[in-house]
Amino acid sequence: MVIFGASGDLTHRLLFPALYNLCRTGLIPQPLAIVGVDIVGQSVDDWRQSLRKMLESFVNNPNSENSIDAVDEGVWQRLTTRMTYVQGDFSDRGLFEKLRLHLHDVARDCQTAGNCLFYLAVADRFFGPLVEQLGHAGLLDEELRDGVPQRWRRVVIEKPFGHSIDSARELNTRIRRDLREEQIFRIDHFLGKETVQNILVLRFANGIFEPLWDRDHIDHVQITAAETVGVETRGRFYERTGALRDMVPNHLFQLLAMIGMEPPNSFNADAVRAKKTELLQAIHPISPENAVRGQYGSGTVLGRPVPGYRQEPNVAPDSGTETYVALKLGIDNWRWAGVPFYLRTGKHLTARTTEIAVQFRRAPYALFRETPVERLPPNILTLRIQPDEGLSVSFNAKRPGSEIEIDGVAMDFSYREYFGPLAAVGYETLIYDCLIGDAILFQRADTVEAAWCAVQRVIDYWAREPAKEFPNYAAGSAGPDAAAQLLARDGRAWSPIRAEHPHKALRP
Ligand code: BG6
Repeated sequence: MVIFGASGDLTHRLLFPALYNLCRTGLIPQPLAIVGVDIVGQSVDDWRQSLRKMLESFVNNPNSENSIDAVDEGVWQRLTTRMTYVQGDFSDRGLFEKLRLHLHDVARDCQTAGNCLFYLAVADRFFGPLVEQLGHAGLLDEELRDGVPQRWRRVVIEKPFGHSIDSARELNTRIRRDLREEQIFRIDHFLGKETVQNILVLRFANGIFEPLWDRDHIDHVQITAAETVGVETRGRFYERTGALRDMVPNHLFQLLAMIGMEPPNSFNADAVRAKKTELLQAIHPISPENAVRGQYGSGTVLGRPVPGYRQEPNVAPDSGTETYVALKLGIDNWRWAGVPFYLRTGKHLTARTTEIAVQFRRAPYALFRETPVERLPPNILTLRIQPDEGLSVSFNAKRPGSEIEIDGVAMDFSYREYFGPLAAVGYETLIYDCLIGDAILFQRADTVEAAWCAVQRVIDYWAREPAKEFPNYAAGSAGPDAAAQLLARDGRAWSPIRAEHPHKALRP
């Protein structure tokens, strides 16, 4: 495994802890040699030490979802004995020649059979040039026998994959000059989350949901990814990205695709990805009146006063970048015609929660018309993606007593209560799948392009018409008023953004 960006934040915070967790659970194929590549001049011991320091910060850390008891020396040794470091500038051809010779030695010394996973944990401007350099040095050539690689070469590409439909197409064209589609693993880290993978199991391994999964039974769907963090130190990146590009065509659309896709013929990567892509291609082009943008002003988040976005480091004092987005979209196919999907995401909101709420149609007539329970709450299936992973179904029940009194109650499943806590950073499955060559959780070129296509109209409109009302929500609130109006217009309301279980809130 060759990691470009070896000294970077992603490698330290996510990649290496994930490799450690995989090694601990015996899922690292042996032998695995790890080669770090970066411009930073350091010895392999320096690199190893800084990785170790980061891993130790996870020990008994109550603020980390990946808290571990201790660093297991045996695991650490197994993982790090075959590590090497190559220093160089990514634009220097000489680096790739040096790397080619180095990988030749590694293959011989560590018996890796010449298989190589190149992980581009670098800023997006390097994706195209790095693939070209690797291709030019002959490092991406596989030995194919009857179409099956005898020695494989794969490239993992992080997000953002382009920043518009044109740039995504251009990048696809560029990297496919040197790579076959099967060699490319475009990461969306949301797909590494257990709860996201569970969406397909919930839908297709149970008989009870799928018969209800259509326009006849579902009123609408809400997808929320609310964060309490602000832009922190990422002002420079965020200024040219914004909430829409940062979260929607990738993370939120992956959730949308899994909720809305047709059943695939099998769990084979291409069968699943084809259905997801079809769903994204069926998104009706989103018109600007169905898109709301917001930017946080100063406020209080989780009891702590925070500055507004325009006061964050590396942010323009009159910045027009959105830190919140809400969209209403329709899917043009037989299953979903007429069912609105409402999506929202934002920074510095009232609570951290990612969830999907599927709201079913109300019972067809009000049997209890003349009683105080006239307006019965609808049934909602809530998939809690994080942080309180689980799922709940709300329904109505008779409160014990001689009167007919109805209460909203819920059945609830919690991952943690049922399966116990899991020390994972969310990259474990993704890395494991790259190593075994299973692309089911990775985005295909046409998936990425379909996603950009769906949002491009809004991106263009917002670029033409800068927002006049920013900042328009206080940090620590539920977002701008216009987002509430987007649903109120249709006689609907967002589920409250809350960190605790909906079923707890329902209890009297
Ligand atoms: C990243 C975005 O892709 O996803 C961040 O760039 C965002 O802005 C993050 O905070 C959210 O991921 P998670 O797993 O913390 O919900």
